[in-house]
Amino acid sequence: MLLHVRQVLERDEIRHARAMLETAEWVDGRVTAGVQSAVAKNNEQLPQQGQGTRALQDLVLAGLGRHVTFFSAALPKRVFPPLFNRYGGDANSFGSHVDNAVRFIPGAHHERVRTDISCTLFLAEPDEYDGGELVVQDTFGEQRVKLAAGDMVLYPGTSVHRVEPVTRGYRLACFFWVESMVRSDEQRRLLFELDTHLMALREQYGEGTAAIGLTGTYHNLLRMWADT
Ligand code: NI
Repeated sequence: MLLHVRQVLERDEIRHARAMLETAEWVDGRVTAGVQSAVAKNNEQLPQQGQGTRALQDLVLAGLGRHVTFFSAALPKRVFPPLFNRYGGDANSFGSHVDNAVRFIPGAHHERVRTDISCTLFLAEPDEYDGGELVVQDTFGEQRVKLAAGDMVLYPGTSVHRVEPVTRGYRLACFFWVESMVRSDEQRRLLFELDTHLMALREQYGEGTAAIGLTGTYHNLLRMWADT
């Protein structure tokens, strides 16, 4: 499932994040790339650890924590500490690759995240740069994604994806992975759809016997499939 999640960050939070990114020290993005993707990767990133990065990570994690659609769609068990990247100038693209299946959390020796879901949170407005689309090979074909600042796309970690060259301006984004309580993309999608329709039903008809029963069905499916 590829999903557009709206307004993970508010306008003033984006402004604040942008101000921090303006003065940040960028490094070669290959620091977090595997051997194969290092060949395709040509961008810049913030260092994984550091005070500035930490403040930005907290901002994004707080945004995720209050977002009901993110929770319903990702059913997060662990979230990799968000990373930040910049595409533009000579460091402007990332060719086709698949993300590593397992990531070690920097600074935490034995903590790992299985990358069930990949997330990109856009921090620059689409009209600030040309190119820079995130292209994801989905089961339904190729999806080209370029979203408003503050919006996020979530897609299966299994997908081949790339970032098109940025030919004008700078594309700023935050990216990270989620290990989900529900490992299967198909089961996760069913739960998300059930939850979404159930919310709409409750809004329309209130809390009747059927809505209570279906809520039970949702939780019983989640109980059957979730690994906490
Ligand atoms: Ni990637």
